[in-house]
Amino acid sequence: MLKAFAIVFLSYAFAAPTVDFSPLNEFSLQLLDHTYTYQENFGKSNKAISPVSVWSLFSLLAEGSSGQTFQELVKELRLPTDLRATQALHLATNNLLKSDFQDVLLKGKSAMFSDCSLQIHPEFCEAATSYSTDIYSVDPKNTTKLAHDINYYICLATEGRITHAVQEENLENLRLILVDALYFKANWTYPFDSTQTREEAFYDYQGKTIGSVNMMYHKAPHNFGDANEIQATVLEMTYGKNEEFSMHLLLPFEGTSIKKLLSNLAAQPLSWINDIRIEGDIPEIDVYVPRFKISSKSDLIPPLQYLGIQSIFDVQRAELPGVSDSPLFISSAAQNVDIEVTEEGTVAAAATVVGLQDRILGQRFEANRDFVFLITERKSNLILFAGVYEEPSVV
Ligand SMILES: *[C@@H]1O[C@H](CO)[C@@H](O)[C@H](O)[C@H]1NC(C)=O
Ligand SMILES: *[C@@H]1O[C@H](CO)[C@@H](O)[C@H](O)[C@H]1NC(C)=O
Repeated sequence: MLKAFAIVFLSYAFAAPTVDFSPLNEFSLQLLDHTYTYQENFGKSNKAISPVSVWSLFSLLAEGSSGQTFQELVKELRLPTDLRATQALHLATNNLLKSDFQDVLLKGKSAMFSDCSLQIHPEFCEAATSYSTDIYSVDPKNTTKLAHDINYYICLATEGRITHAVQEENLENLRLILVDALYFKANWTYPFDSTQTREEAFYDYQGKTIGSVNMMYHKAPHNFGDANEIQATVLEMTYGKNEEFSMHLLLPFEGTSIKKLLSNLAAQPLSWINDIRIEGDIPEIDVYVPRFKISSKSDLIPPLQYLGIQSIFDVQRAELPGVSDSPLFISSAAQNVDIEVTEEGTVAAAATVVGLQDRILGQRFEANRDFVFLITERKSNLILFAGVYEEPSVV
């Protein structure tokens, strides 16, 4: 059990000097905050998201949007208002996720599965292609094949970590499906010695024991310090010999809840990351971190709606004229994340799937589950018969 252990994220340690990713990080931390808040309604659980994957997909859709839909995306994805700057930021993100690193494996893949009969504008396909999106023309009515194709794509892209991202029944009526997959695998710069791992208690923020974990231990040089502005003690553990990537672990100050920490993170600049970096010789520190594994699936629509991205999910209000002449809206958006942290290092995979329906199909009525019926006289609305149908039979 690993309850109340909520915050894990990977950060790029040495961002290319010319591109400022802070708008993207702002979006990411707000999304984490809203995802946690939404999830909290269903009780505590371990949670992991890949916000950059979400950002990347929705930034592409922003290029095909207009009106209110465009304005909401620009504001909440923190996109620069001119298209060229947006494309530059998107391209820089894309290049980073798709480039080769010496001793860290990072692999970003994106794909678009679309209905051949739907007129996807060539400009939108070009935009997608410029971010190295693979384009597949498919028959969306054959949901068996479509589910297989999407799951196969994601399975390959995540080295088998995520195998059943979509179910056939959730693909019905979709006209366009966007997929983003991310895979990360790296060894710690300073691995843990597994003979030192012990089962130990795990506590909630009020100090009550709530379970136990396999606690790893080592003494190694790590950046470490208090970040008062977010009310947390921060440890940075790097990956690989070149230390190009790292994991930050943020332990809230005693008495500070995860919820408070997340809202602090969402509201503050990331300058604390640089503040805890020590110049020169980094002193060694005793580190205890649990071995853990998180597999989570998030519905992205509610947290994105809380964030302020709303009309794109609305059958009546979505404006995506740059994608297609058909009136499309997003009817599903989900993300699977699988993270494993061990003595050796970390393997993390994410798959984001966004499904778009068109309005005409969106208004289909299918009484294929229990329903109530009324028979009325139309002028007076007098109900003559009323009933419930819930036990199916072939008559
Ligand atoms: C990571 O560590 C394992 C075991 O120590 C080793 O077999 C593997 O080659 C390492 N991977 C890299 C990329 O260094
Ligand atoms: C769906 O596609 C598969 C594989 O191409 C094919 O075998 C199957 O007959 C198709 N089903 C329908 C209903 O078209």
